[in-house]
Amino acid sequence: MAAGRVFTSSTFIRTLAFLLGINLVVAESPYQFFTWNITLGTISPMGVPQKAILINGDYPGPNINTTTNNNIVINVFNNLDDPFLFSWHGFQQRKNSWQDGMSGTNCPIMPGTNFTYKFQAKDQIGSYYYFPSLGMQKASGGFGGIRINSRMYIPVPYDQPEDDYTVLIGELYTQLYKALESRLDKGRGIGNPVGVHINGQTGKESTELFVMKPSKTYRYRICNIGIKVTLNFRIQGHNMLLVEMDGSHVVQNSYDSLDVHVGQCFSVLVTADKKPGAYQMMASTRFTKYDRSATGLIRYEGTKTPPSPDLPKAPVGWMWSLNQFESFEWNLTASAARPNPQGSYHYGSINITRTIKLHNSVGKVDGKNRYAINGKSFKESAVPLKLVEYYGIVDQYFKYDTIPDEPKTNDKSIVIEPIVIKAVYRDFVEIIFENPEKSVQSYHLDGYSFFAVGMGFGRWSEASRKGYNLVDAVSRHTIQVYPNSWSAIMLTFDNAGMWNLRSEVWERSYLGQQIYVSVISPARSLRDEYNMPESELLCGPFAKLPKPEPYT
Ligand SMILES: *[C@@H]1O[C@H](CO)[C@@H](O)[C@H](O)[C@H]1NC(C)=O
Ligand SMILES: *[C@@H]1O[C@H](CO)[C@@H](O)[C@H](O)[C@H]1NC(C)=O
Ligand SMILES: *[C@@H]1O[C@H](CO)[C@@H](O)[C@H](O)[C@H]1NC(C)=O
Ligand SMILES: *[C@@H]1O[C@H](CO)[C@@H](O)[C@H](O)[C@H]1NC(C)=O
Ligand SMILES: *[C@@H]1O[C@H](CO)[C@@H](O)[C@H](O)[C@H]1NC(C)=O
Repeated sequence: MAAGRVFTSSTFIRTLAFLLGINLVVAESPYQFFTWNITLGTISPMGVPQKAILINGDYPGPNINTTTNNNIVINVFNNLDDPFLFSWHGFQQRKNSWQDGMSGTNCPIMPGTNFTYKFQAKDQIGSYYYFPSLGMQKASGGFGGIRINSRMYIPVPYDQPEDDYTVLIGELYTQLYKALESRLDKGRGIGNPVGVHINGQTGKESTELFVMKPSKTYRYRICNIGIKVTLNFRIQGHNMLLVEMDGSHVVQNSYDSLDVHVGQCFSVLVTADKKPGAYQMMASTRFTKYDRSATGLIRYEGTKTPPSPDLPKAPVGWMWSLNQFESFEWNLTASAARPNPQGSYHYGSINITRTIKLHNSVGKVDGKNRYAINGKSFKESAVPLKLVEYYGIVDQYFKYDTIPDEPKTNDKSIVIEPIVIKAVYRDFVEIIFENPEKSVQSYHLDGYSFFAVGMGFGRWSEASRKGYNLVDAVSRHTIQVYPNSWSAIMLTFDNAGMWNLRSEVWERSYLGQQIYVSVISPARSLRDEYNMPESELLCGPFAKLPKPEPYT
């Protein structure tokens, strides 16, 4: 063996052991097994019973508490009357869009059957969540938190908190997903939410959600798992020290309240250093004509005092929110689980190879509301686009690149069809989201995180680049776009697969405001993308087609 050369590859050791006939147990990353039973049940967050999607009887579902590199195996039994899929929001399925669980990547788990997701928590630490991705099911439950801890040898830029709490906030609709879908299919809206919840509770309950020991510091992971409304989150009498956002450590600033746009996650540290007693956490709607809010009780251990009825108010206006966005900075010196997340920390000095401008619009097709991106409204394919591509039968189902990178914004017509843009593997790309409408947008890209480099009012122009943060923009998975505004992101398309890019405003993506990005490694190599798993659900034509040659 060459001097100084150390072989650590477990494959090498295994091969060697095999050759020598030694039965060697190689330390592998731990496995965590879950069995989840998806059923329709009853909850009463508004004081009136309503139907909801439960996981093992719970709403919200169980938290996944895992550590970088752990293997997760979840056997999902679908006991609903409808097809079902889970997707893992913000959780990057590296090389593995096979487990992404969107209708464009996977055949659904049919009613009365089960399917086992298998994936690894690779190279990420932070706060994410899972949710049911089909139709409007997300409005009815089936969501839960995902927490990825760093391994012991990867230091994080704060002391270990006393405890770690997951806070899922979202709006409530009384109608079940099927009724919401049928309203949308008929060209109507889903209406205003009836309320807001924090972990399934609205504040009518007298039980506390969380307990803090006096003087100790706690981590709260707050995700907006809602359908369309930005929520402002705050805790009575306490400041929140922001430490992490969408899986990136940030420069630690203190906030009275945070605007959490749909699909975003924040981690804050809160110290129980106020008068012993109880305090309310609050989530309330932003940028809406109506006001809905929820409270959730935090109690200092060993106290019985009720919380003060004086509740902190949400901020007003867009400017406040934009200023808050501009205060976020990535902590460039904090070590990350993945030391080189998007090819380089120095994203500002990489040449942009492609600029894609995505312009959203709303219009009518056959008298019914449709939402579009660059004039096209996404049509669900009868079979997953990823499988169509893998089996080499794209010609029968869709065309690539049917939307232009530079939209024709004066053409208001809308065409409904599958939309797949092809990205060149490892290209460094700038994407500009333009929102000419009156409501706030939130965009999410599966499989990636991206640098959120800038935002501004009005239309984007090349001069807008002068305002970009090219030094310490936070690497995120979901970004808001204010009304009549634009937001710009940058990323390297280095994760091979088929990835959904969508409006997180769920009625919009349901009615067409989503696309897929196909990222193919020309090598068709296992180094870049995993093979289709043996257990892949195969629907429609694929059940009969011969399996393609696997990647090597
Ligand atoms: C799932 O829950 C339903 C309703 O409680 C029950 O009938 C069914 O047996 C459960 N299935 C599994 C696999 O646990
Ligand atoms: C979550 O996992 C961490 C690391 O294994 C462990 O220390 C902690 O106790 C777990 N928390 C819960 C609530 O299971
Ligand atoms: C369904 O569940 C059974 C029992 O746990 C398990 O053996 C089987 O592998 C599961 N099937 C799939 C497709 O995941
Ligand atoms: C950034 O992370 C480093 C390393 O963990 C830490 O020492 C530092 O305090 C953090 N900086 C800020 C401004 O949060
Ligand atoms: C970026 O583009 C400039 C101008 O075309 C060129 O001079 C430079 O070498 C490029 N940098 C890299 C890293 O490719």
